[in-house]
Order: sequence, then structure tokens, then C-alpha cells
Amino acid sequence: MATDSDAALGRDVFRAPKGTRDVLAPESDRWIEIITRFGARARRYGYGLVITPVFEHYEVFARIGESTDVVSKEMYDFLDKGDRRIALRPEGTAGAVRAYVEHRPTPPWKVFYVAPNFRYERPQAGRYRQHYQIGAEVMGVDDPAVDVEMIDLLGGFYREIGLNSVRLVINSMGDAETRRRYREVLLEYWRAHSTLLGDTMERAEQNPLRVLDSKKPEFKEMLQHAPQITEYLTDSAGNHFEQVQAGLRSIGNHFEVEPRLVRGLDYYTSTLFEFRSDSLAAGQDTVGGGGRYDKLAQEMGGPATPAIGFGCGVERLLIVADADGALAPSPARVDAYVVDAVGTADVVVLLHELREAGVASDRAYGGRSLKKQWAAADKSGARYGVMLAPREMETGHVVVKDLTNGQQIEIRRDEVAAWIAVNTQRRDF
Ligand code: HAM
Repeated sequence: MATDSDAALGRDVFRAPKGTRDVLAPESDRWIEIITRFGARARRYGYGLVITPVFEHYEVFARIGESTDVVSKEMYDFLDKGDRRIALRPEGTAGAVRAYVEHRPTPPWKVFYVAPNFRYERPQAGRYRQHYQIGAEVMGVDDPAVDVEMIDLLGGFYREIGLNSVRLVINSMGDAETRRRYREVLLEYWRAHSTLLGDTMERAEQNPLRVLDSKKPEFKEMLQHAPQITEYLTDSAGNHFEQVQAGLRSIGNHFEVEPRLVRGLDYYTSTLFEFRSDSLAAGQDTVGGGGRYDKLAQEMGGPATPAIGFGCGVERLLIVADADGALAPSPARVDAYVVDAVGTADVVVLLHELREAGVASDRAYGGRSLKKQWAAADKSGARYGVMLAPREMETGHVVVKDLTNGQQIEIRRDEVAAWIAVNTQRRDF
């Protein structure tokens, strides 16, 4: 609700809040396409849709890691009217894990989602306070084949929709022993650079890995020479990572191993992956990514459950699609446009028949002139204009005009819906 103080602060309260956007047609047609194709692909891989609440108890999201920006700086949290500490979802994984722990479905639990997320970030192109993610999670499987399947699901989706600028980078965070050894070495390294690190040293002590994804230019050189986790992988962690790479190669998925890849959330263990595109601004060039988080279910009071997942920002995906010439919105919103030259109630009946036959169709309203109706038909981008005209109606016919070339034919009134359905092949969303 708008308050006096909003207005007093000079905020235009009747505009979408900073960092949020409305999506209108025809732009929203692209969203339909993304969601439909992603959902169809995820189901082909054996994943089912999961829908979790937009808000949860704060503690659920706190498990993402107190040292992360997402939790410490960007969370939309508040006390509700019953004094519960509630937070809006900043990402999809924590809620899905909470649902898994609560319902205990039989593993493997393979799910996908399409949902809005909220992070109080400084808005810029590709970074918003509300963003949508398409994502997937698998709980209860340790097999590296699942890591490969996940990466293939997302990479295959990018290929399917025509993104050709994305590249895959992977890394491994190893197992608990790997991370224990690596943390020690890394902390030593940060301590040796504590003067340069300044305030960041506090964060380094809290979680030495967190410093690796710092974007500060003055750290660049130091980060380049930092120890790499891949040198500390235990045999079993190294073996898992090898199998993931072999699996990716076996299905022709190109990737680079980037030993300094860490992700902005604390729950990751083992395999990490990101799809990046040079079409996005540096520093936020990740279209989608994810990894294993084998400890999170336990941290929420559930059984030990190996798990892996990814999230992909829809808004960022569309920026890349624009740069790659993919997912162009279709100018045609309908396939048939009905023009009424007789003022009969049959227009309503004909449109009903067309739509029941699966033809996207529209009309003008309010008794507009024939000329205006044909102009609207042209503007609609429809392939066919269908005119109910007095002379043709007497013989049980209607006029069908191919709006791409102006050719007209007569078709029987009782056959026209089926005829148009056969002659327009619109992909049905
Ligand atoms: P994330 O890297 O924080 O991971 O976000 C996933 C994707 O969401 C990013 O690659 C980006 O495309 C998009 N995204 C994130 N923040 C914003 C923002 N402020 N504005 C626009 N787009 C954004 C996760 O959220 C994990 N839950 C992924 C995951 C699932 N890991 C395991 N399972």
C-alpha cells in the first residue's frame, strides 16, 4: 500500500517498484515459449513440477549461508502480523529442499520449477530485485550420471532455443575432507595478503572460499595466484569429478574446467557448473548455473541426502536470446481474423467454432466499418481473414482471404473452421 512517506520521498508510487518490471505481450509470448519448452524438456528427463511458497520462515533461506550477500544483504525479510520472521524467496533450492524434508518423497526426487525470486540488489541490466528462474533439482542420488544429466538438461535447453553464445564452465568443491584441507591453505594465503584484503579479511576468516568470487579489481592478481581447489581433491572427490567430465564428453558437451569457480551460495559441495555468455555484462555473465549441495537436507533436519540442481534467470536468458537472434517474438498473435459485413450474431458462433477447432482467432468489436475491420485484420498478422458477407451467406458460404497475397476464395460456412485449422499450423502452447 502506498504511504504518505513514499509520496513525501518523491517516489512515484504508481510505477513498478525499482528493480521490477511488467512483462506485456508480445514480449510475454517469449516467456510462454521459454516456460513451455523448458517444462516439456524437464518432463522428458523425468522431472515433475514442484511449486513451493513465495515466502518461507527466514531460517529456511538462512541455510543458503550467513556469509553470502544473498542472505546478509539482499533478503526481503519482515515480521508478519503474527510476529513470525518471514522472508521472500531469494532462490529456488532452499524451498525445494524444505519441501523434500517435510514430505519425504521416495528418492530420487526429480523436480523442476519456474518461479519469481527476490533479492535487494542494485538494479542494472540483467540484475533485478525480482527475477524469475527456471530451475531443477534432484535429491537422493550421488551418482555422477545425475550431474551429467542436469548439465545436459540445461545445456540442451539453451541449444534448443537457439542460444549459441553460451559456454559451460565446471569445477568441483570436492568432499568435506577436500574442503577442510583447501580452506586451511586458502586462509593461510589470505592471511599473507591481509593488508591488501583490508575489511574483506573478516569475510575471509568467516568463509575463506567466499573471497574467491570477489570482483574487486585490486584483488585480481592475488586471486589469479590463489591455490586451486582441484589440487586438493581427495581420491573419491577426484574420481567423481572425472566421471562427470567423461560423461559430458560422451554426449559431446564442451566444457572448460575453471578451478577458481565458486558460486555465491554457501551450500555447494562437489560439482559446480555455470553457463556463461559474452552477451551479458562482465561480472554477471552467468545465464544459469548450479551444483551439488549434499549437506543441505541434513541441515534442515532431514536425512543425509545427496542433491544437485541449477537455476537460470529468465530475464538474463532473454538478453542473451536477443544478442544471439533467438526467440524472436512472432508478430502474428492470431491465425484468423473474422470480419463481419452483415452484422449477424453468427460472428460469435464462427469465432467459437474456430477457437474450438484450435485456431487462434480474433475480431473487431462494436460494429466498426468494413474498411476498419480489414485494416485490423491486416494489423493482427493473421494468415486468413474470414468474412461473413450477405451474398455468400445466402448460399451457405463465407469469404476467406489469404492476407499474405490478397487471394480470396469461398468456403462452405459449416466447413470453414476445419479448413482453417488444417491450413494454419500454429504451434500450440
Ligand atoms: P544463482 O547463481 O544465485 O543460483 O542464480 C541462478 C541464476 O539466476 C543466475 O545465473 C542468474 O541468471 C539469475 N539471477 C540471480 N540473481 C538475479 C538477479 N538479481 N536478477 C536477474 N537474474 C538473477 C541459484 O539461485 C541457485 N538456487 C541455483 C541452484 C539450484 N543451485 C542448485 N540448485
